[in-house]
Amino acid sequence: MSRAAVVLAAGMGTRFKSDLAKVLHRVAGRSLLQWVLSALRPLELDRVVVVVGHQADDVAADAAQVPGLTLVTVHQAEQRGTGHAVRVAFEDGALEGIDSVMVVPGDAPMVAGAPLAEMFAAQPGNAAAMMTTVLDDPAGYGRILRDGDGAVLRVVEERDATPAQRAVREVNVSMYVFDSVAVRRELGRLRTDNAQGEEYLTDVVEPLVGAGVVAVPAPPVSVRGVNDRAQMAAAGAVLRAGMLDLLMRDGVTVVDPATTYVGAGCVVAADATLLPGTHLEGATSIAAGAVIGPDTRLVDTTVEAGAEVTYTVAVSAHIGPRATVGPFTYLRPGAALADRAKAGAFVEIKQSVVGEGSKVPHLSYIGNTVIGAGTNIGAATVTVNYDGYRKHQTTIGDRVRIGADTMLVAPVKVGDDAYTGAGSVITSDVPAGALAVERNQQRTIEGYAERRRAANET
Ligand code: UD1
Ligand code: CA
Repeated sequence: MSRAAVVLAAGMGTRFKSDLAKVLHRVAGRSLLQWVLSALRPLELDRVVVVVGHQADDVAADAAQVPGLTLVTVHQAEQRGTGHAVRVAFEDGALEGIDSVMVVPGDAPMVAGAPLAEMFAAQPGNAAAMMTTVLDDPAGYGRILRDGDGAVLRVVEERDATPAQRAVREVNVSMYVFDSVAVRRELGRLRTDNAQGEEYLTDVVEPLVGAGVVAVPAPPVSVRGVNDRAQMAAAGAVLRAGMLDLLMRDGVTVVDPATTYVGAGCVVAADATLLPGTHLEGATSIAAGAVIGPDTRLVDTTVEAGAEVTYTVAVSAHIGPRATVGPFTYLRPGAALADRAKAGAFVEIKQSVVGEGSKVPHLSYIGNTVIGAGTNIGAATVTVNYDGYRKHQTTIGDRVRIGADTMLVAPVKVGDDAYTGAGSVITSDVPAGALAVERNQQRTIEGYAERRRAANET
């Protein structure tokens, strides 16, 4: 038995009022389409056919990012309905040699592999298995019409339904598994004499009833589509809660799930702690024993075991084991803290290495810099890395003491065990073990305040 899925993703999604095709909108770390495709992965299908139309190249590229699928894209140049979309997939040859064809919409991100597998289990011996659900408010959905014995008769679209039919709360969620030969035949007979003038996929149900159409009931939450941004936000909440549940089951402490956002591409190890207001995005990974938050946003960032990151924003950074970051720290791409390194309050670091046990504790900017081990960077130090044209490198050795408010004008090197005097502007290299001071001798004028008062308060 060869099995394929057709994912309908050619529409624009007018109710989104967006210049971006609906299925490309992202929620909880993935596009709507990627959520659907990810749900298909455990089914181990022989082929997944994505029907693209609006912004076809972007949609195809988005789909290709989901690993573990044998993907084919089919172009539906004009969106003449859901039935037309599947017909195009057949006519394109994308379903050649396939026995059972699943159809799923690209805009149902909450769908999971298990109910889809149930349809595949139910279809053999029948022309179709179709998923249905019962909604308190079925507005916008096609309604399932059954006979007196409860057998499915057909689907009526809301816009074509009579008031009595609209009262039905069992709806079509646009997920089906068809016998390939039977559905292909009926797709060829679809007409467009309906309220939307489209080839409705739902219209294949009635002629297939004689050969068996079984309804597979599903809970509403997993099969709901997303047609506008309010529904997308609601779907995001469900998807995030699901991911946090999995993390907690796997041993992650999530203090406040309601304010914790973990994207689908993130990995969090057991015994990590996520404090309220934690946002993990992109390919962020958190190792065991790390404590993140409160109020921290990490994008594409790696945090190693036992590190603590508080009130911080980090993008494409690496935070080493037992390192401490924050509060109020900004780590930009290429910032890398080694074992037990520290980046403290009001510190910005980019494209720089802070060596083992080294500290940048207060009010500093460090860019294009390599700092060795055991070094301390005094408060308000700045690596002056940019001359208006190019970025230049600063190199600081091991066990260095950079005095407070030092300007290190790059390119410049400070050798091992060296010192710089507070307030110095360092423009030439400092040899190992030396002290470099660049500032004027202090002048002290005795009795100044008294003389000033006398001159002004006569
Ligand atoms: C469809 C069903 C409806 C069901 C609802 C569930 C039909 C006729 N109606 O209605 O019974 O309750 O889904 O959400 O099938 N698409 C294409 N090409 C097209 C038209 C649509 O790829 O020519 C794609 C869309 O991009 C979308 C999906 O198919 O991802 C569903 O299309 P949509 O227009 O949202 O269908 P509904 O009106 O919601
Ligand atoms: Ca829809």
